[in-house]
Order: sequence, then structure tokens, then C-alpha cells
Amino acid sequence: MLQRSKTSPQGSIKTAEEVEKMRVAGRLTAMVLKMIGPHVKAGVTTDELDRICHDYIVNDLQGIPAPLHYQPSPEYPPFPKSVCISLNHVICHGIPGERVIRDGDMLNIDVTVIKDGYHGDSSKMFTVGEVPLRSRRVMEVAHEAMVRGIQQVRPGATLGDIGHAIQSYAEAQHCSIVREFCGHGIGRKFHDEPQVLHYGNPGEGIELVPGMTFTIEPMVNAGKRYIKALPDGWTIVTKDHSASAQWEHTILVTDDGYEILTQLPGDPV
Ligand code: MF3
Ligand code: CO
Ligand code: CO
Repeated sequence: MLQRSKTSPQGSIKTAEEVEKMRVAGRLTAMVLKMIGPHVKAGVTTDELDRICHDYIVNDLQGIPAPLHYQPSPEYPPFPKSVCISLNHVICHGIPGERVIRDGDMLNIDVTVIKDGYHGDSSKMFTVGEVPLRSRRVMEVAHEAMVRGIQQVRPGATLGDIGHAIQSYAEAQHCSIVREFCGHGIGRKFHDEPQVLHYGNPGEGIELVPGMTFTIEPMVNAGKRYIKALPDGWTIVTKDHSASAQWEHTILVTDDGYEILTQLPGDPV
């Protein structure tokens, strides 16, 4: 989400009952990403993928797709679809439409499900057919960057520890980190405090405490970090048109580390 100017400490600290609801919302979100995988094939439009996700969330999971009509602030038009789909050089917030998926595409599908008042938020990358090496590479770097960020999470660690782990890895791999968007606290609110930057310095920023829930969702560019917003008011692309990749999980800070709320048992991170 777009970095907001107002910052207050840890966001809401979840009670045991709330953690259970976050687990449910996270599980349903993960189920959507698992369900949609086999549908991501050459010839399908991003609108069709959106429709399949929407119907599954509403009819099978009896949840609410949080992006639909979402308006983070008055400058944004309401988001018109139920998931974000971002192809190739699109960094994030791609709007599903008529675009036909074809061989060589890589795409991010970002799913946010509300269940019983609580949000789960996760995204992953998909590839279709033979994808250029540069795209595959940025996808892998983004995934490893996210994993390294997640591995920092424990009580007493700081947000800067997370950002630093992500940034230092991605930049060592000659990729760049998008700075204008960040992870976020999540719970009853889609985008809550704190802002979880994907860059920073060890020991800086607030300390993590058990019961915090937030996303880690680094956007990694194969080229330079600069962005451009499209006139639709949502879609963000790389300024240099280089490939971009993103992965996202919703994370709970536990007494001794973390729990990934949007990972299904037995599935890869
Ligand atoms: N799911 C995105 C995130 O990770 C936010 C999308 S806002 C929307 O924060 F309106 F485009 F859905
Ligand atoms: Co998010
Ligand atoms: Co998301």
C-alpha cells in the first residue's frame, strides 16, 4: 500500500480470540491463491481470473474480497475489481481487464479476504510458458527477499531489521526495492499501522511485540527502483519498463518468533 504520512506505533495487538480469526482469514486467502493456480494459462483474460477469484471468495468461502470498491483515501478512485493482477513491468495494483495472458508472461495475483471482520492479505507470482531469464530472476530475488524479511520477525526485533534484510539481499543481487509502497499492519483494518518498509537499517524503527500482525510484501525491480502511476489511478509500473516482482504474506509475531498466517500446512512459503 502507499506509504501514509501518519505513523503511530504497533497497530492493534491481537488477543488470542482475534489471532484465531486472523488465522481463518489468512487460511482462506491462501486457499484463493492455491485455487487460482491451475487457471493461470495462456488465453485467459485477467478479468476472467478476477471473476473466478471473486466467485470463489464470495460463494465457496463466504468471505468478502477487500479490494472491491476499496478507497484508501479520497485521491483514489474506488478499486473496481476483487483482486489485483500485475503483469511483467507492472509493480502492483494492476486492475484486471481485457488483457489476455500469453506465453512468457509473469504475473502477481494479490488477494485480500475479509472473514468475520478480519483481513488476510497475500500475493504470489505465476508464470506462463517460457518466461525470460530476467523475469524469472527478479521473481526469485523478490521471494528470497520476502523470506529473509520474515525470518527477522520475533519479539524485540525492529521494523528496521526486516527492511534491512530485504533491501540488502535484493540490492546485492543487483535488483532494486520500490520505496513508495510498503507492508502494513492488518486486522480489522486492511491497512493499519505500522508501515513495514522494505528498506532500512538494523535496530531502527519500532520493536515488534507478540500479537502484532502485519504484511511483508517487497516489490523488487530488475532495473531501477523508480515508479510511474498510470492514469487509471491505481496501476503502478516501473519507470524504466524493467520487470518487477512481488510476494506477500500476513505475519503474526508470536512469543518466540513468527507465524505465517497465509501459508497452508505443507505448502511452500
Ligand atoms: N493488496 C494490496 C496490499 O497488499 C492492496 C491493494 S489495494 C486495492 O496492500 F484496492 F488495490 F486492492
Ligand atoms: Co498488503
Ligand atoms: Co496484498
